[in-house]
Amino acid sequence: MRKIGVLTSGGDAPGMNAAIRAVVRCGIEAGFQVYGIKRGYEGLIDGEIEELHRGSVGDIMQRGGTILKTARSKRFMEEVGFNRAVAMAEAFSLDAIVVIGGDGSMHGAVALSEAGIQTICLPGTIDNDLGYTDWTIGFDTAVNTVLEAITKVRDTSSSHERTTIIEVMGRSCGDIGLYAGLSGGAERVLVPELPVDIKEICKKIAMDSSKGKAHSLIIVCEGAAVKSADLAEEVTRVTGREARLVVLSYLQRGGSPTFKDRILATECGAKAIDILKINESESFAVGQLCEKIEAIPLKTAMSMKREFDEEKLELIDILSK
Ligand code: F6P
Repeated sequence: MRKIGVLTSGGDAPGMNAAIRAVVRCGIEAGFQVYGIKRGYEGLIDGEIEELHRGSVGDIMQRGGTILKTARSKRFMEEVGFNRAVAMAEAFSLDAIVVIGGDGSMHGAVALSEAGIQTICLPGTIDNDLGYTDWTIGFDTAVNTVLEAITKVRDTSSSHERTTIIEVMGRSCGDIGLYAGLSGGAERVLVPELPVDIKEICKKIAMDSSKGKAHSLIIVCEGAAVKSADLAEEVTRVTGREARLVVLSYLQRGGSPTFKDRILATECGAKAIDILKINESESFAVGQLCEKIEAIPLKTAMSMKREFDEEKLELIDILSK
């Protein structure tokens, strides 16, 4: 009987629990024994590994976070820790490990795969920063959370005729800001992928204000070329219109997953098991490409770069004129 492990790693994302549930239940259906590994690669190193049953994953689909806990393991990146992790996988006779996480977690999965452990990666991150999948698990929920915040902030921002700067997550990928900005009617979105022109932003705010616009909403991704607090100060100084900063931070990572994230997570989890049924050695990344759930060889998936959608950003500018 094949024994497979499942772990969540890196920043948590809404929908990770739905993915775990699918891996466990589809895995058992396929005749596998499924083991939950706690705290990502940390738990692999320490042997925090327990068999999961159908009932172990009951009532978790709707919960944010991850029942397996998660971590960013520094030890796993060092030789001693990594070798212990490999030895532990062998000690528990794990034939394969399903890794649910983002870019950093995928790098860990490649290393395990090179050490002879088959790995299947599922895209669990709110960032939507992986090139091989259209969407990552958690992104939709995170954008909806930002949207809810924008909707509330608009009320007070317009009553006080202020500018609101909203800082969202995304150190190297501006997708959270881009999609929240387009669906939330932001004036400008500052992303890590493109340079920032503070003068142009101030000019735009001043012009909007002279045209009678009640307020302005600027979204700044955390990795943008300007810090959100500095922008708020500068906007207030240059435009004379008070700018207030709202940092959404970890709020974006919590909450019950949307139906879209639950479906994506469930279908990716099921696909991981389908792959493990027919392939006992190669490693893959599972994601959604053009509406279809696909499995792509892990190294190929890692080499696929994400293109930032500048057209959407331009549309935000046009719509906010
Ligand atoms: O990768 C997910 C993410 O939430 C990023 O958007 C953010 O930059 C980072 O994690 C924050 O990491 P930490 O949880 O270690 O503070």
